Amino acid sequence: MASLTGQRVLLCVCGGIAAYKAVELVRRLRDAGALVRVAMTEGAQHFVGTASFQAVSGEPVRTSLWDAAAEAAMGHIELARWADRILVAPATADTLAKLAHGFADDLVTTLCLATTAPMTVAPAMNHRMWLHPATRANLALLRERGVQVIGPVDGPLAEGESGPGRLSEPEDIVAVLARSAGAHAGDLAGLRLVVSAGPTYEDLDPVRYVGNRSSGKMGFAIAAAAARRGAEVMLVAGPVSLATPAGVTRIDVRSAAQLRDAVLAALPADAYIGAAAVADYAPRAVAGNKIKKSSDTLTLELVRTPDTLAEVAASPSRPRCVVGFAAETEEVEAHARGKLQKKNLDLIAANRVGVQGSGFESDDNALTVYSRDGARALGPAPKIRLADELLDLIAERLRA
Ligand code: PMT
Repeated sequence: MASLTGQRVLLCVCGGIAAYKAVELVRRLRDAGALVRVAMTEGAQHFVGTASFQAVSGEPVRTSLWDAAAEAAMGHIELARWADRILVAPATADTLAKLAHGFADDLVTTLCLATTAPMTVAPAMNHRMWLHPATRANLALLRERGVQVIGPVDGPLAEGESGPGRLSEPEDIVAVLARSAGAHAGDLAGLRLVVSAGPTYEDLDPVRYVGNRSSGKMGFAIAAAAARRGAEVMLVAGPVSLATPAGVTRIDVRSAAQLRDAVLAALPADAYIGAAAVADYAPRAVAGNKIKKSSDTLTLELVRTPDTLAEVAASPSRPRCVVGFAAETEEVEAHARGKLQKKNLDLIAANRVGVQGSGFESDDNALTVYSRDGARALGPAPKIRLADELLDLIAERLRA
């Protein structure tokens, strides 16, 4: 049976018909060895009474920020600190929206904002609400911050309709939680990782730049996963619009030269992971004023930028594991292996760009990780999952 022995799980139950399944979820969590406390939204109490949760958890159930007796016994901040993991199940569209945007207008959302514990959400809702662009965007934001999402699954829904929106089965939720707790709990503690992410912008004049399509999602997913697994993480981020993952120290940069300076200043480290799409060339000079259109053609002179990855690998404080990325449109293996060799890397994660469902901007990716003596294919899968799989390979090397 899946084990969560000794894990303190704070289960936040929201207002949907699937709330009744949360009672069974508490039982399954306890069977797996977890200590469970329950907090409920007001909506959840319309579907299931507190007495049911109290009976199965063996603990008082919290429902309000304004309960003087409960606040005196274990205040909401204490409860947020108590948890090793927060599980929101069922997570409604409304609660996901509040969590994505940092609302704290009831006990559940306040607990979620006040915790530093890793968070898992198990959504359940009508399939049209699940597929709505607003819910998709809220989910994407939560994933970027390292929130684990379990389900929902496809099937008949309460309204007599069918589609994606059913709460995952309690035993499946517990199995996923146990796997992630067991596989990764604190396994990177004591390690320092420097991660670069996003594009660089090379200015032409005060209004224009040369850039690329990197969103930063891949690098941010790696930083989030590493911090969740206990590493000290320095994230050097190019210009992106992503939230800083929990537990990560972030340094914002714009150009390839600034990225180089920030990465080298962040050494020493146990590993450097270069997921940033760093410009290879930058304009020789940045015009002081906006370049005017005076002729039919304009020739830009570009010069090579510093190669941060190669410099890190050649540095006297070289991390024990230097990992590059290779964004390729063709001959992926040959180009990736060439970079591995030339830049003296331990690993290089190659991904195909310019196709749907991988590389730039997408939430998903597929990587082939090359070392001098082998190759491992990871995915296709969400970047957040690939991040953990890549970190597993890095952890293996650091332990060797
Ligand atoms: O950000 P996303 O939208 O999630 O997309 C992810 C990604 C496609 C950007 C990512 O997975 C990826 O492939 N990142 C590396 C992109 C890249 O610049 O590849 P490259 O083959 O040009 O560079 C090889 C390696 O050298 C990279 O690790 C790069 O960070 C590094 N480099 C390159 C040039 C330079 N001047 N300095 C460097 O450090």
